[in-house]
Amino acid sequence: MSYQSMHKLSRLRRGPQLRALVRETRLSKEDLVMPLFFKEGKGAESIASMPGIMKMPVDALLKEVEKLQKLGLKAVLLFGSSSRKDDQGTAGFDPESAFHKALRKVRQSTDMVIMADVCLCAYTDHGHCGIVQKSGPGSSKDLKCGSYTKGCLCIDQEKTLEALAKIALSYAHAGVDMVAPSAMADNQVEAIRNALDESGFLQTSIMSYSAKYASSFYGPFRDIFDSNPVSGDRRCHQMDPANRREALREALADVEEGADIVMVKPALSYLDIMSAIRDKVNVLVAAYNVSGEYSMVKAASAKGWIDERAVALEMLLAMKRAGADIIMTYWAREAAAWI
Ligand code: PBG
Repeated sequence: MSYQSMHKLSRLRRGPQLRALVRETRLSKEDLVMPLFFKEGKGAESIASMPGIMKMPVDALLKEVEKLQKLGLKAVLLFGSSSRKDDQGTAGFDPESAFHKALRKVRQSTDMVIMADVCLCAYTDHGHCGIVQKSGPGSSKDLKCGSYTKGCLCIDQEKTLEALAKIALSYAHAGVDMVAPSAMADNQVEAIRNALDESGFLQTSIMSYSAKYASSFYGPFRDIFDSNPVSGDRRCHQMDPANRREALREALADVEEGADIVMVKPALSYLDIMSAIRDKVNVLVAAYNVSGEYSMVKAASAKGWIDERAVALEMLLAMKRAGADIIMTYWAREAAAWI
């Protein structure tokens, strides 16, 4: 073999046909899930930090779902919200809430896969993803949680799991195919699986936000729902961005508890986590390409600094290459037309 021939790896890069033939990873519409944000009342509302994304009342939501289906997408991830907030997040499981009514209408209008995010932060007045333990009379006395001084609110795990299970069950009743618990409450998948099974929803699947990091990339999303915690932050339940082995434990625990899909979130700065989890589990792996990752590309492209389409598709492809089978992305609608 001549030295010119030995490492001639560029041999397989000659021309678009050959490159297409030897391509190891492909991105398709079927991989992408479009997140959709519900709002009460009338009229859709744009979100300044997320160009192209709207908060939609039921009529707009129905039209959007129809459009997405025509574009060839297979799934949407719905986020509920309510103006009726309290310390127990009860609007989250009220079947008469505007969001539950909207879910039922969306269910009737489409055979797309409907997923719904299950969390308390859009329904609690304090904005936390769990039920905060009250001090004083009526509080669960046996919880040893004197950690306010360390910046962590005390989340009442039992009440939180109960509320999350109620939300998931109420969404299942409304016709959702898959519930996606995102509260990062320990044992949430088990609690939800049990609640679903006990009520006969054996076919409702669970996509767990297993490795959800306490990330600064959620900024634009929290503006949407005004869901920033009133006090404290989420570092006491979301993961430390520095940790990798812990993400494997989270994913394995969720699989054991009955998760059908485990998710890594955010995506872009956590591709190593996705890849590690892919190697360890036999369930599907999902990536959540979060709001901040979307907004920064939109902003740079608005300035003419980067090519949005090329950059977005490269990012999404990288997530697949890292091991994601499914990608939640705000580009789903646009990418369906690009791919
Ligand atoms: C709710 C939830 C969040 C996101 C999805 N579900 C916010 C958070 O945990 O703070 C973030 C989505 C995004 O940034 O695109 N718990």
